[in-house]
Amino acid sequence: MTTELPTVPAREVGNTIPTRAGIPVLHNYLQFRAAPLQFWLDTAEIAPVVRVRFATNREMLVITDADLLGEMFQTKARQFPRSKNITEKDKLDDAQTVFTVPTWDEWLWRRRMLQPTFHRKQLSGFAEAMVEETQKLVDDWDDTISLKEQMKTLTMRIIGRTMFSAPLQKTKHLQKLFEQISHYSFIQSSSVIDLPAWLPTPLHIRTRKALAERYEMVGNIVKERMASNQPQGDLLDSLIAASAAEEGGFSAENIIHEMNSVIFAGHETTAMTLTWLFHILAQNPLIEQKARAEVHAVLGNRPATLADLDALPYINNLIQETMRLYPPVYVTLREADGDQTLGDYDIPAGTELLANLRALHRDPRYWDDPLTFNPDRFNNPRHKFAYMPFLVGSRKCIGDSFAMLEMRLAVPTILQKVYLRSAGELPRESASFVMEPSGHVSMSVTFTQL
Ligand code: HEM
Repeated sequence: MTTELPTVPAREVGNTIPTRAGIPVLHNYLQFRAAPLQFWLDTAEIAPVVRVRFATNREMLVITDADLLGEMFQTKARQFPRSKNITEKDKLDDAQTVFTVPTWDEWLWRRRMLQPTFHRKQLSGFAEAMVEETQKLVDDWDDTISLKEQMKTLTMRIIGRTMFSAPLQKTKHLQKLFEQISHYSFIQSSSVIDLPAWLPTPLHIRTRKALAERYEMVGNIVKERMASNQPQGDLLDSLIAASAAEEGGFSAENIIHEMNSVIFAGHETTAMTLTWLFHILAQNPLIEQKARAEVHAVLGNRPATLADLDALPYINNLIQETMRLYPPVYVTLREADGDQTLGDYDIPAGTELLANLRALHRDPRYWDDPLTFNPDRFNNPRHKFAYMPFLVGSRKCIGDSFAMLEMRLAVPTILQKVYLRSAGELPRESASFVMEPSGHVSMSVTFTQL
């Protein structure tokens, strides 16, 4: 980390965990603010477990180690729940969801209710809609596009259609509301000074308005569907059915909040992976050629279907490699519930732990030539926990199969129709709620002759 700030030397604390050097009082805060993404990579260089401090009242252990992260997420998920800084801090409304509920039992109940909706069999019925939405989007492209905006539009349309058969105008407006709320969540979760939620700051006022509007919009959809008794074959139907089938199932209120959390979790993450992927292809002609050759050989110019996916392994590797170097969820936080151990370390109750996922995916202990983009590396075996863009264990992303299906269909569909080339400055990685490329990622579009 390059910083002109005076530093105090690193010291060993507690069970020999090094503390990252910082300045008095603010400790590592200014280093973090100057370059948040680089801060986590640099911290990983010090040791697999490092103590960092953001002012006097916030410190955490940064974990960049496959075995320790595997233990935390897979074997000890219950002992290391989500940090209260995620679940409680940004409360401008009283919504409870699978993301925010404070206890294991409440989370388990919600997860069990949601799980059937994301079953592979259920998802396979959405393949056609995913391809169709991608085709429609690309057919409307001009000579130049903002790739980032277009991929957000695509994933919002797909989740809107598959989740609740939403018409396009509704998804467009929802996208704006979600962006506003996501911006707020990032500011809150990365701030050191907690402004009380009741304080009428412009950000609080704007976000409250967006939350209320989103609640009303999604609420109307859910209530109308429940009253109509006319299933549409979407994810909302299966959520309503699962709730009705079980005593004490989801209420309408629960369904509204969970739908919002699923859309929130599902659209920007997938959109940013697709944005990075096409940006990388434009910089790497040989990799692009290989991907196009596979698509051409398997599909020619007919639309991709579910049955084609196994015949497109390079496309799958391309997506995996994109999420290795550019994981949308680049870090996540846990908290020790009671005194715990992790490997040989004693972890006192209440300790906050940061899973340093992006650094893990670039760690030379697990990856040869880690900074080189090489989709073929996914043909080789690797450490079981060195790669976890969706996490592992019981709190693994519930939408992983949905996201993979969507991307494995969208990528060949876009390749079939266009060549994309960078038409502006190359984007930097930028830390937001998910890791995204800076700016609009302007691309020039040439339609293929297929
Ligand atoms: C490339 C795309 C995606 C990535 C990289 C991703 C990654 C993740 C990660 C890392 C988590 C765990 C967060 C934590 O516990 O700290 C998570 C949770 C979650 N994701 Fe995803 N996700 C993606 C797409 C989706 C999609 C498409 C959906 C839904 C359609 C979705 C729904 C969820 C939900 C509901 C959770 C919370 C699960 C729980 O706590 O039980 N995600 N995701």
